[in-house]
Amino acid sequence: MSKIIAFAGKGGVGKTTVASLVIRYITNSNRGSLLAVDADPNSNLGETLGLDVPSTIGDIRETYMKDPQGIPSGMDKINYLELLVEQAIIEKPKYDLIVMGRQEGQGCYCMVNNILNNFTDKLSKHYKYMVVDNEAGMEHLSRRTSGKVDMLFLVTDYSLRGLRALRRIHDMLEGLKLDVKELGIVVSRGPEKLSDAFLKEVEEIGLPIVGIIPDDPSLLEFDMERKSLLELSDSSSSVLAIQKLMDVHCPV
Ligand SMILES: Nc1ncnc2c1ncn2[C@@H]1O[C@H](COP(=O)(O)OP(=O)(O)OP(=O)(O)O)[C@@H](O)[C@H]1O
Ligand SMILES: [Mg+2]
Repeated sequence: MSKIIAFAGKGGVGKTTVASLVIRYITNSNRGSLLAVDADPNSNLGETLGLDVPSTIGDIRETYMKDPQGIPSGMDKINYLELLVEQAIIEKPKYDLIVMGRQEGQGCYCMVNNILNNFTDKLSKHYKYMVVDNEAGMEHLSRRTSGKVDMLFLVTDYSLRGLRALRRIHDMLEGLKLDVKELGIVVSRGPEKLSDAFLKEVEEIGLPIVGIIPDDPSLLEFDMERKSLLELSDSSSSVLAIQKLMDVHCPV
């Protein structure tokens, strides 16, 4: 069974950045195979990892729905869809990436979705780690992870509004049939010393702060130069903060 690490939090707080830094940490520490899943319809995990994404699961679904009879002879629809998913996996030496892409349009997608979900589920079991970069909402997380998450990082910026969004997500979790083993708050662009007002709000949520990622100017520089965050220097402040977080909360 793979160890599933996922991220949630309101829009723009740093989920994809933290996910990329976690991928950097796992691949650099040679901990075993990793499947990165970009589960955001406005996908950009590929970009932060410096990859071109030729095909997404959403594209496969649309191609099939446009021409359900277009299955090559000798194949059934399950083999055909599974083959397309395999072709959509971007394989890198230290990890693989799969991009979910846009959500379905109009029409009955249940059968295709079931085949695609079952196959991505089966696939994920071949990896030691699965890192899922989620969209801001939580609705699809249980579907993307077959209902189980080992570590859910709730990412917030350094604001009470960000924390309140986390509180709503936390409250929502129970109704989502999502089995989360460990939950922790990650403060993105946080100062070394958090204010009393912020800490009071955290206390009310009742979850631990597992990491504070400082405002790191090299992240902006890498974004502007379209460079992969996997190439950040070992001494970057954000890299060091994720190292500290993962050493404690995701030991080998
Ligand atoms: N610790 C940080 N220091 C400096 N810049 C940061 C930091 N964290 C995130 N950023 C920048 O903030 C922007 C938003 O980050 P990111 O895309 O990771 O957020 P997100 O939560 O994934 O957004 P969305 O909800 O749109 O998916 C990016 O330009 C990123 O480079
Ligand atoms: Mg994102």
